[in-house]
Amino acid sequence: MRARAFFFGWLVATLAVGSASAFSQDGAADAELVKRGEYLAKAGDCAGCHTVPQGGAPFAGGLGMGSPFGTIMTSNITPDMQFGIGEYSYEEFVKALREGVARDGKHLYPAMPYPSFSKISDDDMRALYAYFMHGVQPVHKAAPPTKLPFPFSQRWALVFWNLAFTREGLYKPSPEHDAQWNRGAYLMQSLGHCGACHTPRGPAYEERGYDQSSKHYLTGGVNDHWFAPNLTGDPGSGLGRVRQHEIVAFLKGGHGGGLVTFGSMVQVVEDSTQYMSDDDLNAIAVYLKSLQAQNPSGAYAPHSRAASLTATAMHTGEVARPGSGIFMSYCAKCHQADGAGVANKYPKLAGNPAVLAADTTSLIRLVVEGGSSPETHDGPECKKMPAFAQKLTTTEIAQVLTFIRTTWGNNARPVSTRDVQTLRADIHK
Ligand code: HEC
Ligand code: HEC
Ligand code: HEC
Repeated sequence: MRARAFFFGWLVATLAVGSASAFSQDGAADAELVKRGEYLAKAGDCAGCHTVPQGGAPFAGGLGMGSPFGTIMTSNITPDMQFGIGEYSYEEFVKALREGVARDGKHLYPAMPYPSFSKISDDDMRALYAYFMHGVQPVHKAAPPTKLPFPFSQRWALVFWNLAFTREGLYKPSPEHDAQWNRGAYLMQSLGHCGACHTPRGPAYEERGYDQSSKHYLTGGVNDHWFAPNLTGDPGSGLGRVRQHEIVAFLKGGHGGGLVTFGSMVQVVEDSTQYMSDDDLNAIAVYLKSLQAQNPSGAYAPHSRAASLTATAMHTGEVARPGSGIFMSYCAKCHQADGAGVANKYPKLAGNPAVLAADTTSLIRLVVEGGSSPETHDGPECKKMPAFAQKLTTTEIAQVLTFIRTTWGNNARPVSTRDVQTLRADIHK
């Protein structure tokens, strides 16, 4: 309560004193609050959805987000009085973030991750509000409206969606775990909204679980034609074999334990996790490493007989399995014949959990479209993976992916020509 009174006192003071307050004793506290809000906006990746990449004004909205209902446009959340959220009171801001209801009463589509944001603490909400009101440049421009086909255009129906699915309250610390674990759980479940991609969704687009009490939580999900893998302790396609410091490095610089960020995770690292403090990233990794293996799939047995046989055959060039020739001609120069990759440049494919994933959407899409590793301040330089849409046929793509999923001790189900065909049709490539 005291903090709240302080906040309103501060607001009134700021309005009255204006920029002069920057030099006062209170001004220092305000600047600190705004700065903390800026950090939290990074942790929540507000820019990832509300800023158009490559040159869009920060937080001015207008980024189209793919959803099963159609494309949803993000709002201008700069403090512009007419086109942004400049007129939002603190309570209205909280209502938009926690309940998905805009100032004008409009129900927001759950493409805005308010079921996760409902867990954001009051302290963090105050800092976020201070940042969006005082740390962001107003942009006097309307974001293009969302036009969905009927019946999805009926925002009022979201009232029922909310009644059915959003029951999350503030984050409740678990007394069984220490402060570091709770910090990690809080960041992932609230601001980080990691489950928005990594948790499978049910028939009404609801996330099937918002914390570790659900066996579906973070077991992998498809969003916008990218599969975000299982983050539980599954030793095959999950994080069971990835160590805490490797997870931290992956989130900080896009490279860790031979894995390289790709697909929709690239933006998460570029806009959000690279800015998080080492303490917060370690907290996330500690929390992730505590998650019991769920929904296991794929396996890695590098010392098996089959693995050593292929190793010898690749060495002597006598591999006759479908896909092996394609791999040697098109992939091995970066990923290496033994699938070990090159540290800080090209990911390993042997034992890579993303390669062993049950759902092959991301693998197919990456080979069709190519990709770039993230551009970060402290991480290794950005490297490109070429697109193979023009170089390989649909069948060849299926063969080379099957090859990398069943070689070097990797053991995951084959990829069919049909899997590749279906996805290529979906992404029009
Ligand atoms: C995963 C994408 C995503 C992220 C991350 C995200 N938003 Fe949004 N946000 C949206 C979308 C989409 C809408 C518009 C929804 C609609 O029109 O129904 C929206 C709408 C809003 C609105 C309502 C504005 C209005 O009046 O229309 C506010 C306020 C808002 N977001 C604030 C934030 C803040 C603050 C953060 C970071 C803590 C954030 N958002 C992160 C997708 C996102
Ligand atoms: C916009 C969707 C999206 C969001 C949000 C997201 N991820 Fe991801 N994530 C992905 C995709 C897609 C991949 C697979 C590509 C890769 O491995 O980089 C991935 C991969 C990962 C991996 C590597 C897993 C592996 O087996 O290779 C980790 C660790 C991870 N994410 C952690 C997180 C954390 C922590 C958060 C929240 C702070 C988060 N992700 C939020 C989409 C997302
Ligand atoms: C010029 C070097 C290069 C070539 C050739 C290449 N790749 Fe890649 N590959 C990369 C880079 C760089 C990444 C990281 C991409 C990203 O971050 O978007 C990557 C990522 C991957 C991944 C995801 C693994 C992870 O952890 O990021 C798979 C799977 C993959 N490549 C398979 C292939 C296959 C199959 C071929 C051949 C058809 C191939 N690559 C050819 C450079 C290459």
